[in-house]
Amino acid sequence: QEAHAAEMERTFIAIKPDGVQRGLISEIVSRFERKGFKLVAIKVVIPSKEFAKKHYHDLSERPFFNGLCDFLSSGPVLAMVWEGEGVIRYGRKLIGATDPQKSEPGTIRGDLAVVVGRNIIHGSDGPETAKDEINLWFKPEELVTYASNSEKWLY
Ligand code: TYD
Repeated sequence: QEAHAAEMERTFIAIKPDGVQRGLISEIVSRFERKGFKLVAIKVVIPSKEFAKKHYHDLSERPFFNGLCDFLSSGPVLAMVWEGEGVIRYGRKLIGATDPQKSEPGTIRGDLAVVVGRNIIHGSDGPETAKDEINLWFKPEELVTYASNSEKWLY
C-alpha cells in the first residue's frame, strides 16, 4: 500500500483570482476532497505576469493570451496538487468544459461560473502538463506524501 501511494497520479489544480475573490475556495476544495482525492500541496500566491505567461506558455499565440495572463496575475491564486487514481482526467471532469456556457450542471464551472474569461479554476490537461505545472508552481519539498485513513476504503 505504501509503494502504491508513492506512485499515485498527481495533478495541478488552481483556483483563479475570480474564484478566490468570490469565496469559492471551500466549495471547490470540498468537491475534490469528497470524491476521494488527496490534497498533497496547497498555497496562496499572487503570480507575477511573467509567471502567468510561463504557466500558459502553450497559449502564447492565442488572441486572449495577454488578457488571460493579466487576469491570472491580478490577485491571489490557490495553487494545489491533488493525488489519486485517475485524478488528472477525472479532475477535468469535475471542473467541466472550458466555456462555462458549455459546462454541464454538476461540474464546478457549470455550477459556479458564467463566462470563459472568468471560469474560476484551472486543471492540468494531461500527464505531461501535470508534471510541468506541478514543477512550475511547487518545490519538491512542498509536496507531502502521507497515508490517509480513508485510502483502505477507497482502493
Ligand atoms: P484552455 O487551456 O484552452 O482551457 P482549460 O482552462 O479548460 O484547460 O484555456 C486556458 C484558459 O484560457 C481558459 O481556462 C480560459 C481562457 N480562455 C479564454 O479566455 N478564451 C478562450 O476562447 C479560451 C479557449 C480560453
